[in-house]
Amino acid sequence: AYVVADPCIQCKHTNCAAVCPVDAFREGPNFLVIDPLECIDCDACVAECPEEAIFPDDEVPLEWEDYITLNERLSAEWEEHLIAEVKEPLPEVDRWSGREHKREYLVE
Ligand code: F3S
Repeated sequence: AYVVADPCIQCKHTNCAAVCPVDAFREGPNFLVIDPLECIDCDACVAECPEEAIFPDDEVPLEWEDYITLNERLSAEWEEHLIAEVKEPLPEVDRWSGREHKREYLVE
């Protein structure tokens, strides 16, 4: 399955969710996750993300490996919050884009 990692936090462009053929994305307040049970490994979402936040699970950078289980856990918790269309990114996207170590700002 594909995994959404740290660069998405506080940006949430949502372009990724709109191209997913199986509606695998789930939405939280300032982050999106991919449900590993739904993802079919099609690769369509990766190129859509301007923050380069999405990776196949076997290519997630070491520092973000915990995002694999995080996507799994939050996709279950946010099961009702399916997102399959583009929305406006978060209002402070310019301030947060490209920042590192945003995990502590994740709102669950
Ligand atoms: Fe996040 Fe990138 Fe999608 S910032 S919402 S993973 S397009």
